[in-house]
Amino acid sequence: MRADSSLFHRSLKGTPPLAVRGSGVRLFDSAGRDYIDACGGAAVSCLGHSHPAPIAAIRAQADQLAYAHTAFFTSEPAERLAADLVRRAPARFGEGRAMILGSGSEAIEAALKLARQYHLERGEARRAKFIAREMAYHGATLGALSVGGHVARRAPYAPMLIDVGRIPACYAYRSQASDETAEAYGLRVADALEAEILRIGPESVAAFIAEPVSGATLGCAPPAPGYFKRIREICDRYGVLLIADEVMCGAGRTGTFYALEQEGVAADIIVVAKGLGAGLQPIAATLAAQKIVEAIEAGSGALAHGQTYMSHPVACAAALAVLKTIDDENLLVNAAARGAHLRGLLEARLGRHPHVGDIRGRGLFYGVELVRDRQTKEPFPAAAQLAPKLKEAAMAEGLMIYPASGCADGVLGDHVLIAPPYIVSADEIEIIVSRFETALPRALEKAAARQ
Ligand SMILES: Cc1ncc(COP(=O)(O)O)c(C=O)c1O
Repeated sequence: MRADSSLFHRSLKGTPPLAVRGSGVRLFDSAGRDYIDACGGAAVSCLGHSHPAPIAAIRAQADQLAYAHTAFFTSEPAERLAADLVRRAPARFGEGRAMILGSGSEAIEAALKLARQYHLERGEARRAKFIAREMAYHGATLGALSVGGHVARRAPYAPMLIDVGRIPACYAYRSQASDETAEAYGLRVADALEAEILRIGPESVAAFIAEPVSGATLGCAPPAPGYFKRIREICDRYGVLLIADEVMCGAGRTGTFYALEQEGVAADIIVVAKGLGAGLQPIAATLAAQKIVEAIEAGSGALAHGQTYMSHPVACAAALAVLKTIDDENLLVNAAARGAHLRGLLEARLGRHPHVGDIRGRGLFYGVELVRDRQTKEPFPAAAQLAPKLKEAAMAEGLMIYPASGCADGVLGDHVLIAPPYIVSADEIEIIVSRFETALPRALEKAAARQ
């Protein structure tokens, strides 16, 4: 830890190591240590840290045109990126259009306003309420935090947040009953949306927002079979828009470009970020289905949501190169193969560990939930600080995994995310799991000492 810094770090209690270089799936610090980035930061660096294609695209675009304000001009990379993103959306989405922004949180804010705008254009001005799920993460800005359901992250700002309808998460490990099939569970939790719409009054509800595969706060919990089909039916029945927050699980992370595609339904608004820029540029996109575009075109013609750096040409050029690289190098196929390998190894080596409660995920997006007692699923006490201790122990082994707490009840519950770059090799997957296996008992020892 470096002691002095003028940077307002995530925690002012210390300064993290100084990263100086990235190469392939590895990051290097100023002390000469290297780390396998097994989580792509926060499921961001899908091409690793030194892929030449987007780097060349960034240089070329910066040389040609770095910036042109969107109130004056459009740009070729922004036009091409929007076309590429809507082309990848399911047929039911229609032609659609994409707004290009700078971060997941910004893109969620735009999605919420876009949903509201759609209803305003159609003369349904009462529709201003959003429904979201418990334990969801949708970003750090106030609108995104309002729809987010992570208790601890919301608590300090609760008086500043907008009032949102709330339904339980789809989280089979902790809420599927022992005598319930996965399908019956999916329908039961999806039906909570209908009850909540009726409680609020359908004429007031603008949209329902959910992560197709829950990321940071629930540790890669996939939806139960049939869950999103039922959600889609309920949204259609009451004229409520469906917003898919694919900030973390999109851009190929779960094996298809958009994660919701695997559920056989289309959202009305899709938000994608992290893997889209692969960490090479800050970029996110909010996609509006054709019916939303048509309503706005036929009405006021605009969404009042201009931002200085939207559709940034250099960021768009980087994202275009990321998408092209994913296609050209067939990286979703590699991600699926490496993901199956990762799951197999995690299950074989850690599946019976007394403190590993659940291993779950999809594609190259896995969560490992840790429990004090496998039988009762009792979480570790908050004082144990297990997830952060595991991050620390893994870093000491040269491994980056993404820790989070609160999956059990918003405060208790520890898990880590493993989401390596799509370029990861079979050997690197072996190293990731071996280092994880070494770090886990060390973290458990440290956590035990704190209880
Ligand atoms: C599902 C989801 N939505 C939104 C966000 C917010 O994105 P950003 O951190 O880029 O603002 C995140 C970030 O982790 C996320 O995982």
